[in-house]
Amino acid sequence: MTNYSGFSKSNRAQRISFLSEHTDLSDSEIGLHYGYDSHDPDQQSLLEEMIENYTGNFPIPMGLVPNVVINGTTFQVPFVTEESSVIAAAAKAAKFWAAKGGFTATVESTIKKGQVHFIWKGDPEKLQSLFPDLRTKLLQSTELLTSRMRQRGGGIGDILLIDKTRQLPNYYQIDVAFETADAMGANFINSCLESMADCLRTAPELNTGDFPPEVIMSILSNYTPDCLVVCRVEAPIVALAGWNKQMNPATFVTKFKQAIDIARFDTPRAVTHNKGIFNGIDAVLMATGNDTRAISAAGHAYASRNGTYQSLTNLSLEAHTFKYTLEIPLAVGTVGGVTQMHPLVKVVSAVLNHPDAKTLMMIAAAAGLANNFSAIASLITTGIQEGHMKMHLSNVLNQLKASEAEKKIIRTEFKELPVDFRTLEGLITQIRNRT
Ligand code: MEV
Repeated sequence: MTNYSGFSKSNRAQRISFLSEHTDLSDSEIGLHYGYDSHDPDQQSLLEEMIENYTGNFPIPMGLVPNVVINGTTFQVPFVTEESSVIAAAAKAAKFWAAKGGFTATVESTIKKGQVHFIWKGDPEKLQSLFPDLRTKLLQSTELLTSRMRQRGGGIGDILLIDKTRQLPNYYQIDVAFETADAMGANFINSCLESMADCLRTAPELNTGDFPPEVIMSILSNYTPDCLVVCRVEAPIVALAGWNKQMNPATFVTKFKQAIDIARFDTPRAVTHNKGIFNGIDAVLMATGNDTRAISAAGHAYASRNGTYQSLTNLSLEAHTFKYTLEIPLAVGTVGGVTQMHPLVKVVSAVLNHPDAKTLMMIAAAAGLANNFSAIASLITTGIQEGHMKMHLSNVLNQLKASEAEKKIIRTEFKELPVDFRTLEGLITQIRNRT
């Protein structure tokens, strides 16, 4: 295998000609690397500098979910997603619930955490007894770094010493709580932790004997159970009649409850169930320039907090009322990082009326709950394929470059057919031969 050194120092044109030399891409495939360049040179250079070894822009569709009413305010929510039906599902649920007062959301807390992981081979009791003074020094070591954040209402909260020596010999953590206002705050947290790590490493009181503290690593935790939002919808059970004409509301809600209960004890189902919640959440996170990986990791870990992996949504049917809730950690940011740079993220922020981080937590949660509601409602009634296949059919017909007339014939004459590429390809050929 060849090891291409110096690649990072090459420019974009060199990287693309490298691809041309080392792959069998056609000229038009090579050209696609330039095909989605921004017309605005400033925006283009911004994108080129956002990542390393840049070769081109990779478009993913953006669409709008209207009528998302949260705590009485209506949002038109941009979704960025590659999956068909996600927007249709969210839009249908948002509209349905808007007519019933919409979503109610509350941000329970916004604390994030990070740890300095270290080894101390000295006396554990000595470490504990020195810690109160050490804590003050650790905090002081971050003062410069936190000054602007403190002005914005953020900063550092609890600093704890956690003894983990049962899990790993001589292993301790300095566990630090952060409030990062409207920023996701990863850089801020990591800088503070690294500063604390230096302070710990060089603290004279810990460097008296043979065992100075050895820092292993300093890093934020993407597990954010204290950065929590709860989003709910509620309506009398009879009001669910409007969703599905074929099924009476009592049967609908009973099956809905069973579907939720299954996802509370059955991991294989719970994973798919939660994936459907993330269909909406990820689409909002992508559109707003947030870190989808961090937030999914936190969500799935939170789903396991009771020892088994469970549904993130819950349903109660007490007092003839459908009370449906999503509780999820969403450590989002609306300032700093990509949110300030990406031209479309700025547009999305304007569409959402420049939300602060708490408002964005509520919007993303509402998107997740909307997608989950639609998914479960389809699964227990028509099945998921009916809606999916309509979109899939359009995608395959476009792939086959079907004309509008051909699309019309397929849609009217072949309603019951399975939508697979080969079948449709055969049909288009038949239609073309007919004419
Ligand atoms: C598909 O992207 C998402 C669903 O599978 C979610 C679910 O099963 O709940 C429909």
